[in-house]
Amino acid sequence: MASSTNQMLKPLTTCINNAGNLEIGGCELTKLAELYGTPLYVLDEKTIRSVCNDYKKAFEKYPHIHMMYASKALCTSALTRILDEEGFGFDTVSAGEIYTVYKSGVDMRHVLFNGNNKSFEEISMALELGVGRISVDNFYELELISKAAQTKDKTVDILLRITPGIECHTHEYIQTGHLDSKFGFDLTQIDEAVELIQNKYKNIRLHGLHAHIGSQIFETGIYPDEIEILAKEIARLDEKFGLKLNEINIGGGLGVKYTQDDLPPSTYEVGELVINKLNEVIEKYNIEPPVVFLEPGRSIISTAGVTLYTVGSSKQVPHGTKYVALDGGMADNPRPSMYQAQYVAEVANKKQTETKEVVTLAGRYCESGDILIKDIELPELSTGDVICVYNTGAYNYSMASNYNRVQKPAMVLVNDGKAELIIERENLDDLIAHDIIPDRLKK
Ligand code: LLP
Repeated sequence: MASSTNQMLKPLTTCINNAGNLEIGGCELTKLAELYGTPLYVLDEKTIRSVCNDYKKAFEKYPHIHMMYASKALCTSALTRILDEEGFGFDTVSAGEIYTVYKSGVDMRHVLFNGNNKSFEEISMALELGVGRISVDNFYELELISKAAQTKDKTVDILLRITPGIECHTHEYIQTGHLDSKFGFDLTQIDEAVELIQNKYKNIRLHGLHAHIGSQIFETGIYPDEIEILAKEIARLDEKFGLKLNEINIGGGLGVKYTQDDLPPSTYEVGELVINKLNEVIEKYNIEPPVVFLEPGRSIISTAGVTLYTVGSSKQVPHGTKYVALDGGMADNPRPSMYQAQYVAEVANKKQTETKEVVTLAGRYCESGDILIKDIELPELSTGDVICVYNTGAYNYSMASNYNRVQKPAMVLVNDGKAELIIERENLDDLIAHDIIPDRLKK
């Protein structure tokens, strides 16, 4: 089976140049650090386009596939443009994500709106902008959507999100398809939802079912299992209600390679399994070939991204750990402290063959738990060295905070030796921009 870009640890343009320095997208990382400062998020355009190509090729044998990038992994206007050019639609979960894709010029019919607690305002905005599908999560939302549609005199096109009762072996915080989940309708609640749509909410048009099992998944078997359940439900709803549903959304979740031990499956393997299973259920349940939505997030953008940090202080605990402190940490990458996520790093400005030592890369934030990488072997580090942490494209910037009132980093897009700023570094005034001092406290 062909390998795919999500199985790589580093962006595909990563190399060591003649000067012995690390390069990505033809740009020397130390130069980027000098020009734009650190911490700095770097995105490699070739890697992004290569992943898109993998997905398109892997699923080309099934004509009714719609790739919907899960924006929550990383939502920026420039990335939205690239993925729009690649023919991807967008899975969004907030007014902010919807607004970003809208302002980036995306045809809003190619946008899906997900989430377990969408507000009336967000739903109204989605309807106003003509979002293609809303994936409805619960009974409360059915009513809310119907009301919002009524005020706009519109009909809403929806999917019902269900919890199929499939568990996957990933961190429990990022499992979503198991029965005791906050997301979606339980299988036993679908009929009631359908009856409400048929009899009460006449301005809601149901097109199909949606499920998402979890994230950073390595078990390919969950996709066929999920398709079996979705197809069976579609056939059952046809028999019971005469409903001709022809859309299924199988979510995202494909894993990536954060460390050498991670062996995520290739998109090609998943594509083949999914297509075989689709063909099987189409025949078995005698259903029309459904339109299939896929919502990959992490696997699209994680590998393309790295974060650059500069080494500052260090501390050798007598007979213990050597801590080397970086100028970023849990506010630009909360994943290690939140999920015990592991990462690989290299020094950008030193030969990897130099004398090595085992150190712990600590963040700059006031928390003992702010450790980016524990016990990593690196060439001996000194102040000013530039560290490159791999696979930070997904769920880093998108989960970043201003903890300790530190400005969020900038992001550059690199390609063919050119670097373009796509997110500006926040400045100190950005940090106080929304502060208000009541008159009585003013000096
Ligand atoms: N579709 C739905 C309905 C989702 O909830 C998610 C992710 C995706 C698609 C995209 O899944 P992906 O392909 O990225 O695995 N912050 C966590 C990950 C949370 C994922 C939430 N839902 C992390 O950093 O690992």
